[in-house]
Amino acid sequence: MKTIAVFGGSGRTGQHFIQQALSQGYAIKALVRNPAKLSLKDPHLEIIQGVVLDRMAIEKTVIGSSVVVSLFGHVKGSPARLQTNGTSLIVDAMKKYEVDKIISLSGGGLPFPEKDEPKFADKLIRTIMRIAIPKVLDDAIEHHQVLVKSGLQWIIVRGPRLSNAAPKGSYRVGWVGVNASTQIARADLADFVLKQVEDDQFLYQMPFVSY
Ligand SMILES: NC(=O)c1ccc[n+]([C@@H]2O[C@H](COP(=O)([O-])OP(=O)(O)OC[C@H]3O[C@@H](n4cnc5c(N)ncnc54)[C@H](OP(=O)(O)O)[C@@H]3O)[C@@H](O)[C@H]2O)c1
Repeated sequence: MKTIAVFGGSGRTGQHFIQQALSQGYAIKALVRNPAKLSLKDPHLEIIQGVVLDRMAIEKTVIGSSVVVSLFGHVKGSPARLQTNGTSLIVDAMKKYEVDKIISLSGGGLPFPEKDEPKFADKLIRTIMRIAIPKVLDDAIEHHQVLVKSGLQWIIVRGPRLSNAAPKGSYRVGWVGVNASTQIARADLADFVLKQVEDDQFLYQMPFVSY
């Protein structure tokens, strides 16, 4: 049984991810701040309590796992470099315990110039984000650099506006401005993230998943 180390598992996408991964036969080690937020109980779900800026808690989560899935992100009151610093600590732990692949979640505001072809609407959205949430955008960009420099296998999955709608079971995988729309349900996004655990076709890339 393959074990996935999950960060952000108590979040709205994270809970879908854990549920889907368990039902597909994976074991999960999840670092969460507040275990009460995860109502799921399963013999293959191990919960580690802590924050994603605590090296010891991160190491406890990563040790013994085969792959890392990072779904944490900024919430009210998060420090400016939450994703960068948390990801750096996760990378350190992965190197220490010889875990070589990480899938990380971000949004369309994070550019992937190699493949993106942003249209007017995409540029407008990025401009608005740059004004409204500059620290979140800068943090996403810097967390990408951490992964690039890590020497690990990485995939950054990007999504547009996330909804809590029921999953459709199908979605498009493209790039910003290419084969893309402006919405996806968190349950479908979680499905794509989970597929990346076994699939290496998007290694070192940032696919954009939408309807
Ligand atoms: N929202 C959107 O429309 C959108 C669009 C595109 C991409 N994204 C990306 O997708 C990610 C997931 O979205 P979502 O809506 O599922 O997020 P969410 O429900 O806000 O979940 C965020 C998760 O991060 C965790 N977290 C925050 N700070 C932490 C810390 N210091 N230590 C440990 N965990 C911490 C939260 O823990 P708690 O449960 O304890 O708060 C929660 O589990 C976002 O973070 C963003 O990068 C979002």
